[in-house]
Amino acid sequence: MDVAAIILAAGKGTRMKSRLPKVLHGICGRPMLEHVICAALGAGISKNIVVVGHGAEMVKGSVKLDVTWVEQTEQLGTGHAVMQAEPLLTDFAGSILVLCGDTPLISPDTLKRLLNEHDESGNSVTVLTAVVEDPSGYGRIIRDSGGLVTRIVEHRDASADELKVNEINTGIYCFAAKALFAALQNISPANAQGEYYLTDVLSVIVDTGGGTGAVNVENALETIGINDRVQLAAAEALMRSKILMAHMTAGVTIIDPNTTYIGSEVMIGCDSVINPGTVIEGNCRFGENCILGPYSRLTDVIAGNAVMVQNSVIIDSSIGNGVTIGPFAYIRPGTVLGDNVKVGDFVEIKNSVVDKGSKVPHLSYIGDTHIGERVNVGAGTITCNYDGIRKWKTSIGNNAFIGSNTNLVAPVIVGENAIIGAGSTVTKNVPDGALCIERGEQKVYPEWATRKNKKK
Ligand code: UD1
Ligand code: CA
Repeated sequence: MDVAAIILAAGKGTRMKSRLPKVLHGICGRPMLEHVICAALGAGISKNIVVVGHGAEMVKGSVKLDVTWVEQTEQLGTGHAVMQAEPLLTDFAGSILVLCGDTPLISPDTLKRLLNEHDESGNSVTVLTAVVEDPSGYGRIIRDSGGLVTRIVEHRDASADELKVNEINTGIYCFAAKALFAALQNISPANAQGEYYLTDVLSVIVDTGGGTGAVNVENALETIGINDRVQLAAAEALMRSKILMAHMTAGVTIIDPNTTYIGSEVMIGCDSVINPGTVIEGNCRFGENCILGPYSRLTDVIAGNAVMVQNSVIIDSSIGNGVTIGPFAYIRPGTVLGDNVKVGDFVEIKNSVVDKGSKVPHLSYIGDTHIGERVNVGAGTITCNYDGIRKWKTSIGNNAFIGSNTNLVAPVIVGENAIIGAGSTVTKNVPDGALCIERGEQKVYPEWATRKNKKK
């Protein structure tokens, strides 16, 4: 079956009261439009046309998936939006799946069910419907006495009787391409909103003798349309619990799902444990047996197995196996931590590589630095990487020992096996195997304190 998808995403989304186009509002860390595109891809559709209009450039720039864009310069309604894709489909004789950019919870399985039903029935249109408790705002499905769908009537255009119908149009349909574009020629904007409604195509198809059908969605929550921020939060909650459920089913322990937030693209290995208050977002991948949280924010982190992170923030970094981080560490973009590295409390690391087995256990700032293997960085060590104008690099060789409260003034190199005495401010390179101490000589005055105390 040859299928193309047209995804409608040109509307402003007035009810969002936002400067951001509606379809870019995020759900579980991803623009809602991307969720819809992913559902189409998941249903096996590779030809995806997205109709953009309001904020078109911003929408195109924010979506990271391979689609064909088409512009609807004036938003004259959903029917008019679909017409904009016609020039791209002139020789196309297959089926067209129409989706809305604002129904982000739709699953690939439901789309497959709709496509199969459409294919088998030979109808000109098959609409995905849902039976809901509160149909307000949605288009209503009107059937004839034999149960055949004859029409969709918008909420604003519906009669009192029609408003009572609780089978609604989800805004998702499958059409025979030729029948769709022929019918679009015959719709008019004579309705409450003065728009070209895609929904009017149904009655045109019926009038011209085409067959209509409907598939009822099993879980109506999949098709909720996001029109305002209350619905946005509802969709977030639904998708969030679905994501958490999938991780738990796949062998991840989540101690408190109520306070755990995991983005839709995150991967976590089995037997990992997610403690309360943890946010894992963006392009994150954790291995098996990790213990993440409590109270941590992990963004774009690629990590191995048996990684432990508590009360810490990690952004755009890569982490080896057996690494422990925190409590209260801040790992900033461009950091690479080798296997079995330990980063302890109140440590900030930025754009640095720490090789395997090294430790930065307490109260340090490490920036633009390469730390070799099995290095110990004493408490309070600071790399002074910034001279007020530009950033400079620090390099520390394998097995070096950096005493507490050291300042490493970059650019500077500390050789392998070197030792830096506590409290040193290192401004010159230290050769391999050397001891470097930079501090005032200690003076001792015997009995001085005893005498002072006696005078009191
Ligand atoms: C639409 C349906 C309604 C259905 C509901 C399901 C119509 C006329 N109504 O109503 O029957 O119950 O979806 O959620 O189709 N868009 C454009 N260009 C336009 C207008 C809209 O691209 O000129 C896009 C919007 O960006 C949005 C989608 O089409 O993604 C739906 O538009 P929206 O205004 O939200 O339609 P609803 O009133 O929700
Ligand atoms: Ca809508």
